[in-house]
Amino acid sequence: MLTATALHEPSAHLVAFTQLSVLAERERSVGQEDTLVLREHRGHRLGMLLKTANLEFLAQDSPGHPPVTTLNAEENRHMLEVNEALGFVPMGSEGAWKRFVPPAV
Ligand SMILES: CC(C)(COP(=O)(O)OP(=O)(O)OC[C@H]1O[C@@H](n2cnc3c(N)ncnc32)[C@H](O)[C@@H]1OP(=O)(O)O)[C@@H](O)C(=O)NCCC(=O)NCCS
Repeated sequence: MLTATALHEPSAHLVAFTQLSVLAERERSVGQEDTLVLREHRGHRLGMLLKTANLEFLAQDSPGHPPVTTLNAEENRHMLEVNEALGFVPMGSEGAWKRFVPPAV
């Protein structure tokens, strides 16, 4: 797992992170996992900076992998905008359904 973090120096707190899961088999794709910027630190493009830095580190540390894949909620426009700017394109979609079962009497 490659983890990139952002350190807020005045408070010495980590305020953002992103992770890539890299399998030993080079023919397998890399997974772009969670990314999070603490609410009070949003709006400074930290998500984009961290993702870019981690992808650059991946290319240096473990070159030769095929595509990086990720999952996004369709309504998460903020994350989708970052991913689209980085060159991610749709490859599939999935849906989920639920049915409420009334409690037995
Ligand atoms: C997605 C996320 C990382 C983006 O944070 P970021 O890098 O700070 O975003 P940006 O700097 O690109 O923000 C661009 C604009 O959107 C706003 N914005 C970003 N995320 C927002 C959110 N979740 N809700 C409302 N506004 C948001 C910013 O304030 C900024 O506004 P401005 O242009 O008026 O200044 C952040 O919203 C987040 O941590 N969300 C929760 C976790 C999540 O959904 N992760 C993705 C799935 S793993």
